[in-house]
Amino acid sequence: ALISMRQLLDHAAEHGYGVPAFNVNNLEQMRAIMEAADQTNSPVIVQASAGARKYAGAPFLRHLILAATEEFPHIPLVMHQDHGTSPSVCQRSIQLGFSSVMMDGSLGEDGKTPTEYEYNVDVTRRTVDMAHACGVSVEGELGCLGSLESGQAGEEDGIGASGTLTHDQMLTDPEEAADFVKRTKVDALAIAIGTSHGAYKFTRPPTGDILAIEQIKAIHARIPDTHLVMHGSSSVPQEWLQIINEYGGEIPETYGVPVEEIQEGIKHGVRKVNVDTDLRLASTGAVRRFLAHNKAEFDPRKFLKETVSAMRDICIARYEAFGTAGNA
Ligand code: G3H
Ligand code: 13P
Ligand code: NA
Ligand code: ZN
Repeated sequence: ALISMRQLLDHAAEHGYGVPAFNVNNLEQMRAIMEAADQTNSPVIVQASAGARKYAGAPFLRHLILAATEEFPHIPLVMHQDHGTSPSVCQRSIQLGFSSVMMDGSLGEDGKTPTEYEYNVDVTRRTVDMAHACGVSVEGELGCLGSLESGQAGEEDGIGASGTLTHDQMLTDPEEAADFVKRTKVDALAIAIGTSHGAYKFTRPPTGDILAIEQIKAIHARIPDTHLVMHGSSSVPQEWLQIINEYGGEIPETYGVPVEEIQEGIKHGVRKVNVDTDLRLASTGAVRRFLAHNKAEFDPRKFLKETVSAMRDICIARYEAFGTAGNA
């Protein structure tokens, strides 16, 4: 059944778990997420980006997600719009039946240019007024996602600041967060704590201090009733990079956010954990490996089925690691 983000994350806060929010673009991702949730008895957040709407079309995405609630009626599901770039984008999603929207006012309508604080407050507050009147939850974002290692926002073609970011831009200020929440009344807040979108987060193997954990603690202490959201939370599994490269891929050495660090974040108020890249990597690895081993095969269902099981395994691992399992 469809529920709001507020309902789900309130339960998560009460019981001290986190919920992965997986991006969805196609049937295979949707199936992988739902089969994993079904197997582990987990509540689900699926989110659709602007890129997903462009790829699949809003009506197809909407019905794909609604089909999931029909086939798995016992699984609570939040239908979330990822990175809305204006109140009118969010309004259209609310009209389509999304139970939660993200108004990302940290960037302008181009999804690239960092904005002024007052602009962010204004677009977010207007979105909250509209959404709450319809029982829809709102996620805001304060600070700009960027790798503290490189100062780069990552993800060239998706949502992400252009150019190099300053250290201050990449760390959400706790006092500003408190003012932002008071003025906008968002249900959840995406914070900048050293992660970035995409596969190229870190060039060196993580040493256990990739996340700005002290920042998370300070923000959580100031706004304990606001659910914290961590974008750019893919772990970039080295085993999938290896498989991709073994079967003809050319992905350079790169590292993501270790699951143990996300678990540490969950202990300090992180409730929604955005994961997209990991499912993309697993999917690509599964296709490359299958086609390399089955050169005469031409039924797409054969290799697409491989992507479902590869993605499902990752979803199961995240539901278990974040404590989501058993909470449906
Ligand atoms: O925000 C980033 C997500 O990974 C979505 O990416 O815009 O390419 O669908 P996308
Ligand atoms: P990843 O690129 O780390 O999977 O992050 C996805 C995300 O934050 C979507 O909003
Ligand atoms: Na989001
Ligand atoms: Zn994001």
